[in-house]
Amino acid sequence: MKINLGIIGAGWIADKMAETVTGLGNPGIVPFAISSRSLDKARAFADRWGFLKAYGSYEDMLADPEVNLVYIATPHSHHYAHARLAVEAGKAVLCEKAFTANAREAADLLALAERKGVFITEAIWTRYMPLSLKVKEILDSGRLGKPKMLSASLCYAMEQKERILRPELCGGALLDLGVYCLNFARMYFGSDFASTDSSWILGETGTDMYENITLKYRDGRVAHLTAAALGRCNREGLIVCDDGYIVVENVNCPEAVKVYRDYKLVEEYYPPKGQVTGYEYQVLACKDAMEKGWLESPYMPHAETVSVMEQMDSLRAQWGVRFPMD
Ligand SMILES: NC(=O)c1ccc[n+]([C@@H]2O[C@H](COP(=O)([O-])OP(=O)(O)OC[C@H]3O[C@@H](n4cnc5c(N)ncnc54)[C@H](OP(=O)(O)O)[C@@H]3O)[C@@H](O)[C@H]2O)c1
Repeated sequence: MKINLGIIGAGWIADKMAETVTGLGNPGIVPFAISSRSLDKARAFADRWGFLKAYGSYEDMLADPEVNLVYIATPHSHHYAHARLAVEAGKAVLCEKAFTANAREAADLLALAERKGVFITEAIWTRYMPLSLKVKEILDSGRLGKPKMLSASLCYAMEQKERILRPELCGGALLDLGVYCLNFARMYFGSDFASTDSSWILGETGTDMYENITLKYRDGRVAHLTAAALGRCNREGLIVCDDGYIVVENVNCPEAVKVYRDYKLVEEYYPPKGQVTGYEYQVLACKDAMEKGWLESPYMPHAETVSVMEQMDSLRAQWGVRFPMD
């Protein structure tokens, strides 16, 4: 099946996606259409990346019968409305993280896609990456004994970003950065939580700028997660097992996975040669699922997307962070 990719929103991540699909050079994935609220911006984007069509409204692009996969690249606050428009138009959807503002919107959107028989998945890119899957394989092999503890941190200097500061754009570190830490913990330790504790700092606009989350699991395991928009951190993931530990360099986009036994480095893994940006795996997963006629991706099942949103809803409730759509 040929994928004609259409993008909604010509911002930062849209450029990354364009760099990815053009760099991938897969004849089955065509950098087809860009839509923006500004036709000039869409045209400039199309010229920059060689997209075939440029639209000055999202709706106009969705009316194009040749577009068959729509990438939602707008702020969190708008994912629900924009993905809904795409689903209503019968298009398959790859929707950026955080999937929606809250779990209610996520469940509603997924139910609509199911009724319409349309494929939809969350663009939480780490879920689709070979190095993420490698970590799972190592843990499942039992060669380090039982995994017991995990930590992950993801902090960027994003204090001035409008998208982070404004509650009406569903700002805050959690939906932008914490979501990666939560997904890291869930990929390897699951979601059978016994308790959740957290400490947090809110910024002047009421969005969360820092959070430290401790998840205890019913089987006795524990995860410590730190996310913040206040500065840069090492972005490290660490999984501690009976006989050794695994270090994931950059939980936002794994750059290396290092396995230690008796405090000695015994295995190391790197992204596949020829990796473009790392964003390509989620697009390839969409193509594969669409060819198979699936409505969801095995890499990020719908139930997991809703469950992550529920987890973030409950953390925000604890912190008093509310969005207008709650
Ligand atoms: N996976 C990753 O590594 C990664 C990295 C960064 C961001 N993201 C995700 O990508 C999404 C977009 O982030 P971004 O950094 O690309 O944001 P951005 O640069 O601010 O771009 C968002 C685009 O959305 C469109 N838009 C529509 N309504 C808007 C509104 N009311 N206010 C602002 N923009 C609006 C705009 O496009 P037009 O003006 O062209 O219509 C804007 O350029 C977010 O969900 C974010 O979490 C993911």
